[in-house]
Amino acid sequence: MTSKTPIRVAVTGAAGNIGYALLFRIASGDMLGKDQPVILQMLEIPTEGAQKALKGVAMELDDCAFPLLADMVLTDDPKVAFKDANWSLLVGSKPRGPGMERADLLKDNGKIFIAQGRAIDEVAADDARIAVVGNPCNTNVMIAASQAKRLTADRFTAMVRLDENRGRAQLAKKAGVSINEVSDLYIYGNHSPTMFADFTHAKIGGKPAAQVIGDETWLKNDYLPAVGKRGAAIIEARGQSSAASAANALIDHIRDLVTPGKVHSVAINSEGRYGFAEGLWAGMPVKTTTPGAYEVVTTYEMDDFAKSKIALTNDELVGERDTVKDMLG
Ligand code: NAD
Ligand code: LMR
Repeated sequence: MTSKTPIRVAVTGAAGNIGYALLFRIASGDMLGKDQPVILQMLEIPTEGAQKALKGVAMELDDCAFPLLADMVLTDDPKVAFKDANWSLLVGSKPRGPGMERADLLKDNGKIFIAQGRAIDEVAADDARIAVVGNPCNTNVMIAASQAKRLTADRFTAMVRLDENRGRAQLAKKAGVSINEVSDLYIYGNHSPTMFADFTHAKIGGKPAAQVIGDETWLKNDYLPAVGKRGAAIIEARGQSSAASAANALIDHIRDLVTPGKVHSVAINSEGRYGFAEGLWAGMPVKTTTPGAYEVVTTYEMDDFAKSKIALTNDELVGERDTVKDMLG
């Protein structure tokens, strides 16, 4: 058995659909490593139903006899859930239904991130890092980060990794190659249909993807909307939003953030990069430097088409920020 100190992972919405697909993988070592013990600190809303369901999830975690699961905390109190947490995974919030856009969730979900941002800032570990999944995740993470006085903005990230995975899978399918052949595909901007899956720098088998696909019209008019609206297509097909693929993307998001050298798409405080407005959280490629820390990859030159796509998704993020201005600390 390993002698490493357990890492505390807080997960909100732990009895929800994504929670159910996520917790078992964290406890099995998929996220932080096969020799890294974890303590799961699980938060659910204070209703009898949610707390009972949370107990059921914990019973199943017990029944897995995971060697790496050092302890579990079940609670309805954010200050208990985030106490000394090294990672806080903010999943808990309403999902959208058919016919809705993720931004329609802002008024309901945004306020969750005021209280949770404050609680994390108050009680989480000094090395605390946060990943927001609850939608609309770019703006929710901005709300949480705006409440923090102790933790710097770079600690707060939101997930666009599902979009990167979707974008790679669709390029591989179109080219008729293995997913392992597709590289350098990064997501810019909002986790919404305006996101820009940058096919202009993507590679297939080491060659420019556009050259391999040989159909720019498909890339611009079919591929981009298909990646951007994949979440809605899943809702249409399943009757509820993506859960297993979302949990898998969150595992990828964190695992790559603790693996130095990995380059991957993360929504971070833009600091004006790639033409995004200052202070917005926008997807872009980052390179992990030391576990949990990253630098932005700023070397991609955007052509006029890419710039116009980035401008659109930036405008939407600015609009979302205006909608929640009263929620920003
Ligand atoms: P779900 O309804 O199945 O589960 C959400 C859970 O969160 C519920 O159990 C609910 O009780 C709990 N919850 C609600 N408010 C809470 C709070 N304040 N504190 C703690 N728990 C709370 O939904 P889901 O399918 O698990 O999706 C969760 C969120 O993730 C949704 O907002 C969804 O849109 C989003 N999502 C994001 C991505 C992405 O790529 N960023 C992908 C898929 C889903
Ligand atoms: C997704 O992309 O699958 C999630 O954000 C859920 C949704 O509302 O689309």
